[in-house]
Amino acid sequence: MIGIIGGTLFTETPLFASSSPEIVKTKHGKAEITRGEKAVFINRHGTKRDKPPHMINHAANMAAMASMGVDRIIAACSVGSLREGLPPGSIVIPNDFISLFGGSSIFNKELRHVIPALSEELRKILAEKAAGTGLYVENSGVYFQTRGPRLETRAEIRMLAGFADVVGMTMGDEATAAAEAGIEYAAICSVDNYANGIMDAVISQEEIDRLSSKNSIVIRDIILGIVG
Ligand code: HPA
Repeated sequence: MIGIIGGTLFTETPLFASSSPEIVKTKHGKAEITRGEKAVFINRHGTKRDKPPHMINHAANMAAMASMGVDRIIAACSVGSLREGLPPGSIVIPNDFISLFGGSSIFNKELRHVIPALSEELRKILAEKAAGTGLYVENSGVYFQTRGPRLETRAEIRMLAGFADVVGMTMGDEATAAAEAGIEYAAICSVDNYANGIMDAVISQEEIDRLSSKNSIVIRDIILGIVG
């Protein structure tokens, strides 16, 4: 079974038209999941938009996905660009990430240390589908995860730009929890803004949301094309 993680757009598609979100209890807490016939969906910020990035229970989400037989996940993420040559409106399919100060773990009561990695197979499939959209796509890149919910200072972005291509608040911890749950995981990222100070950008939440909803329709269709 395939899992999808993203925003509200997916609930408005035929895939989940006849399902509504249900609360699934796991050892790690509760997850809100929508079950479709072909895929299982999590709206990571909650259907009521009540889960900011630092409050998402990735361990519960992944444990719930695994309990429903999900063995691979495609996630849609919003990111800021750390490079001049990667403008808002682009798509990045990252091949690695940095999340040194990660959040919730599935292994809180046993000594186990996974080595997380993004799925090469899912990345290739995403790259093939994204190539036909007409958008500027980078098929690899490093995602730097910050804790959120705040955005970054200019000094922080200068530092991060030395190590990564895009910055966001969720993907690293989500991919790590997926690895802990034994689920293959890859992400497709919508570049919704230049990070603070890149190209003298002055960022606002409104601008991020505006671009995000534009690209997310394309991203939704890419993912739905993969689910079939
Ligand atoms: N910083 C962190 N997370 C983000 C950004 C950003 O600039 N844009 C979208 N998610």
